[in-house]
Amino acid sequence: MSKHERRVAIVTGAAQGIGAAIARRIAKNDVTVVIADVNAEKGEAVAAELSGHFHRTDVSDAAAVQGLVDDVMATYGRIDILVNDAAIVPFVAWEDLTFEEWRRVMAVNVDGLFLVTKAVSRHMADAGYGRIVNISSNTFVAGTPNANHYVSGKGASIGFTRSLASELGKDGITVNSVAPGLTESEGVKAGPHNEGFAYVVPMQAFNRKGQPEDIAPAVAFLTTEEAGWVTGQLLVVDGGHTRN
Ligand SMILES: NC(=O)c1ccc[n+]([C@@H]2O[C@H](COP(=O)([O-])OP(=O)(O)OC[C@H]3O[C@@H](n4cnc5c(N)ncnc54)[C@H](O)[C@@H]3O)[C@@H](O)[C@H]2O)c1
Repeated sequence: MSKHERRVAIVTGAAQGIGAAIARRIAKNDVTVVIADVNAEKGEAVAAELSGHFHRTDVSDAAAVQGLVDDVMATYGRIDILVNDAAIVPFVAWEDLTFEEWRRVMAVNVDGLFLVTKAVSRHMADAGYGRIVNISSNTFVAGTPNANHYVSGKGASIGFTRSLASELGKDGITVNSVAPGLTESEGVKAGPHNEGFAYVVPMQAFNRKGQPEDIAPAVAFLTTEEAGWVTGQLLVVDGGHTRN
């Protein structure tokens, strides 16, 4: 088929929360957005709202990821933008953290990052253009407790960004990290992290809870053509909670 005229973005984890806000913000830049998520019901709803495309994908499953990339290439013939947002956001004290739980989180948050980026970057390199943004977390800056595996994985994603940026510059691809602070997503609202606002908000420069829409514009900027001189960077978007 002929190549789609608009730029095409894959946003993983975009069925809800920060990922959905990113998908909505990127779509405003005249970009066709593909939602890749395990949650088909919510993912399809966001895709329909944006006149985009949904592909049910578990980012930790190599075959599923290849299926996603093959589908997008067959449908649109291009992938210009990748936002790696899909993650598990756990809450486990060190004493209770098992190797099984460590692996569960690493499989999605780190292996998933590798698998999706590996499958997509080949097509970006062929086109000589790409924008990759990896969603990290300011917990790596703050050393937040009760999620050692999560914080370790978010640190790994920053190393992944910095190293990959050096290798993919020759192909016209930028790779950057955005680290949100505590944000009132569906995932956070439904779990123990919701209690964290009482502690975090007083440390911010602004006296309110961070929203998914506070994170999306920074990510969207890094996916634009004009952000082409920015690569390998970590942009912390947390209302001034931490200093990177
Ligand atoms: N909310 C926060 O306070 C906060 C702070 C810092 C960083 N982050 C990061 O922002 C990103 C989004 O967080 P959120 O709070 O919006 O989360 P959320 O739980 O609200 O949404 C996560 C989305 O990822 C999807 N997902 C989970 N596992 C998946 C898998 N294996 N394959 C595909 N999709 C999968 C879920 O279905 C869901 O739609 C994550 O990378 C998270 O680590 C969040």
